[in-house]
This record gives sequence, structure tokens and C-alpha cells, in this order.
Amino acid sequence: MKELEERINKDGRVLGKDVLKVDSFLNHQIDPVLMDKMGNEFYQHFKDSGITKVLTVESSGIAPAVMTGLKFEVPVVFARKHKSITLKDDLYTSEVYSFTKKTANHISIAKKYLSADDKVLIIDDFLANGQAVNGLNDIIKDAGASLAGIGIVIEKSFQKGRQLIDKAGIPIYSLARIKAFDNGQVVFEPEND
Ligand code: G4P
Ligand code: NA
Ligand code: NA
Repeated sequence: MKELEERINKDGRVLGKDVLKVDSFLNHQIDPVLMDKMGNEFYQHFKDSGITKVLTVESSGIAPAVMTGLKFEVPVVFARKHKSITLKDDLYTSEVYSFTKKTANHISIAKKYLSADDKVLIIDDFLANGQAVNGLNDIIKDAGASLAGIGIVIEKSFQKGRQLIDKAGIPIYSLARIKAFDNGQVVFEPEND
């Protein structure tokens, strides 16, 4: 998505060797006009997949997920994060390890908001190592629902997540694909859709 790449070039800041800070439009302040266009991009890409529900993880996935759910006119559910959880019968839970933060979180979704009839589109703001997506996929399997695809705002293609998803044969569409950071500059993969 050209406009997103331009925005990343204009407002993004590379921190260290593998983190992109985009607090001005995605992770802290949110640009709703850009978010609306992203929702539309995801909709155009997945509109024939029979999506019944959009799933994400709090907090930064919620904005793009809601805009996407709006286009599909389907509910959006965000998994909640907990440090640890006392077992609860009415929740699907999964453990998500963050390589970036070196901590494990549990994510959970109430059973009543995900059923075996659901065809799910996962939306997230970043794809790095793919652990958040993995955790959501575990929950989808537990519910007997099916995963129709994954939509990512910013993919860091040089980390493990993209490869894992491709290997699993899951349809994925990322609006910006970062091939590398080169001296504080963002290098994108060539666009193919
Ligand atoms: P993974 O799910 O792909 O394995 O990601 P990882 O554990 O490496 O990332 C942990 C957190 O850091 C996630 O947010 C993820 O979105 C975010 N993240 C990963 N790489 C980047 C990056 O280059 N830039 C920014 N801005 N964020 C990145 P989270 O802890 O779930 O927090 P929240 O923002 O959703 O609340
Ligand atoms: Na994040
Ligand atoms: Na996220």
C-alpha cells in the first residue's frame, strides 16, 4: 500500500537494529483516515473469503481490526492479555511469548464470542516473530473455527513470522512489507498486488 509506505518513510523511526517506531499514526496517536483506507484494503483482498469475524489482540491491533470489521460488517473480537490466568471454563486461552520483550503473556477470548461456524480473519498491527498470530490460531483451533486469512499492517519480512505463516499455507496480506533496515532507512519488499 503506497500511501502507508510513504507514511512510514515520512513519520517512522528505526530504533536499534530491528524496531520501527510508528507512534504518530499507529501505536499511540492514530490516524483514522489512514486506518479507514487500510480497512478497505483488507476488505478488498479478503472479501470473497466468507469472513464472519475479525480477530486481533489488544491494544494496537484494535484500530485496524475495527476498520476492517466495519467494511465486512462483521463483529471484531480482541483477545485480552494477562500476565497469568486462573483457569476459567468460559475462556479460550493461549500463551504468547514475546521475543522482543522476553516475556510470556496469556491471551484469552470468551468462548461465547467464537464458535465452530466462524471463518476468521486475523488482523494485527505488526508481524515480527509471529507469536501473537500463533496464539490466536491456537484459540481458533480450540473453538473449532477456521482461519481464512491474516491481514498485517506492517510486516518485518526479515523476522520469522512471515515464513512460519507461509509454511503453514495460511493466506496472508501485509500492507507494508519491510525487507530490511539499512542505516536507519526502511527498505521495502517490491509490491506485488
Ligand atoms: P510477534 O507477535 O510477531 O512474535 O511479535 P513480538 O513478540 O516480537 O512483539 C511484541 C510486541 O511488539 C507486539 O506488541 C508487537 O506488535 C510489537 N512489535 C514488534 N515489532 C515491532 C516494531 O518493529 N515496531 C513496533 N512499534 N512494535 C513492534 P504488543 O506487545 O502486543 O503491544 P500492543 O502495541 O499491541 O499493545
Ligand atoms: Na504493538
Ligand atoms: Na499487536
